[in-house]
Amino acid sequence: MLDSRTIQVIKSTIPLLESAGPALTTHFYQRMFKHNPELKDVFNLAHQHSGGQPAALFNAIAAYAHHIDNLAALGAAVERIAQKHTGFLIKPEQYAIVGGHLLATLQELGGDAVTEEVLTAWEQAYGFLANIFIAREQQIYQSQAEQAGGWLGERRFTISAKTVESSVITSLVLTPADGKAVKDFIPGQYLSVKLKHPDLAHEEIRQYSLSDAPNGTHYRISVKREEGGQVSNLLHDVLQVGDEIAVIPPAGDFTLQVSEATPVVLISAGVGQTPMQSMLNQLLKQKHPSNITWLHACEHGAVHGFKTAVQTQCQLHANLTSYVWYRTPNTSDKLGEDYDFEGQMSLKAIADSLAPSAHYYFCGPIGFMSAIKQQLLELGVTADKMHYEMFGPHAEL
Ligand SMILES: Cc1cc2nc3c(=O)[nH]c(=O)nc-3n(C[C@H](O)[C@H](O)[C@H](O)COP(=O)(O)OP(=O)(O)OC[C@H]3O[C@@H](n4cnc5c(N)ncnc54)[C@H](O)[C@@H]3O)c2cc1C
Ligand code: HEM
Repeated sequence: MLDSRTIQVIKSTIPLLESAGPALTTHFYQRMFKHNPELKDVFNLAHQHSGGQPAALFNAIAAYAHHIDNLAALGAAVERIAQKHTGFLIKPEQYAIVGGHLLATLQELGGDAVTEEVLTAWEQAYGFLANIFIAREQQIYQSQAEQAGGWLGERRFTISAKTVESSVITSLVLTPADGKAVKDFIPGQYLSVKLKHPDLAHEEIRQYSLSDAPNGTHYRISVKREEGGQVSNLLHDVLQVGDEIAVIPPAGDFTLQVSEATPVVLISAGVGQTPMQSMLNQLLKQKHPSNITWLHACEHGAVHGFKTAVQTQCQLHANLTSYVWYRTPNTSDKLGEDYDFEGQMSLKAIADSLAPSAHYYFCGPIGFMSAIKQQLLELGVTADKMHYEMFGPHAEL
């Protein structure tokens, strides 16, 4: 446990942290990549460029300082970060490197306010938090390895099929090269791919939500081509059926966990539908007795992935209803056939189908998810029934 003086000193540094803002963590990452360039093979450098990861780390440090006397409040955040870390195969010994650069950053940016006492308090507080992460991450690694079909670290998978789902989304079926089973996951979780390809300057790790229900033999991911994106374009254009890639076990805290009596509403925009596809297929496989509502938004018919799959499921399952919004339909798109509404997703239009007792899972661009959260709050849905995933560094909606 941290002693009361350390807690007091950490709290006294909150104004200093807040006045520095994410410039603190931007400096930290620049420093770390300069002294430990090997970590460029670990981190997603696009998230450094966008500022998403420095912001996520800053928010985590600020939240830690605020809640240092009530760490239970950080439980969900610790779990999300630990799950994410395992997707990057973070090792215990890397915590000393990160800690060293964080403390040096405090000294470099904090000036006279960072006294010996402040430095010692942050050293202790960092060590305390690092040990919490290390312990939880070891548990996750162990459980990933011990489950039937599980493994530790990287495992070779063969791309056994590629299916075009829309003009921008292609699904890849990944089958273990060793021909053995693969562990189950909870729908909503993602796997990580690690690519060491001659076309890439660094090794790259990317997360992709599993887009089908667990089946014990293979995984499916569905990848959107990102303009200028390194890995998505490689997966679309260069890597072909028969090629192998390294896969890191499924992880993540965005998970479908509902009782049979719970109506479920799956809400997505664009490629954000991938974790929802997994959830939908699992619910149907389990013959979920309550209502399932599928709400999807995309630009127009050409980029509408999985359209036929969802329409077919709706015909087969009386408890499944789907509503689709096209923001700017093409002239060939048919209202009432391909899509139900024009414009941005507005839940008021279907408010009668949205039970307040339902659980709401959503994924898409951050602006879309903020709007959905706001609309759900206006419809009387409470925050504990909302669950969302970000396809990038976490941010609060
Ligand atoms: C939990 C989770 C689940 C996910 N699930 C899915 C999924 O199911 N399907 C899916 O398609 N994606 C998913 N993603 C997103 C995925 O991990 C990748 O981020 C995405 O495929 C883009 O990767 P990329 O390598 O193609 O692009 P990157 O190379 O990472 O680039 C991303 C963008 O940043 C720009 N950029 C990068 N570096 C620079 C720079 N130095 N200067 C200027 N611009 C730059 C690029 O032009 C591009 O527009 C998920 C992400 C997370 C975190
Ligand atoms: C106490 C120490 C640490 C804290 C508070 C912390 C915090 C965070 C946070 C908040 C995120 C974003 C999580 C999300 O998007 O959901 C993250 C991601 C990440 N962390 Fe840590 N972390 C710590 C230690 C480490 C260490 C030791 C490493 C190893 C080098 C590391 C590597 C990463 C990587 C690679 C990511 C993903 C980055 C990305 O997606 O761009 N972290 N961490």
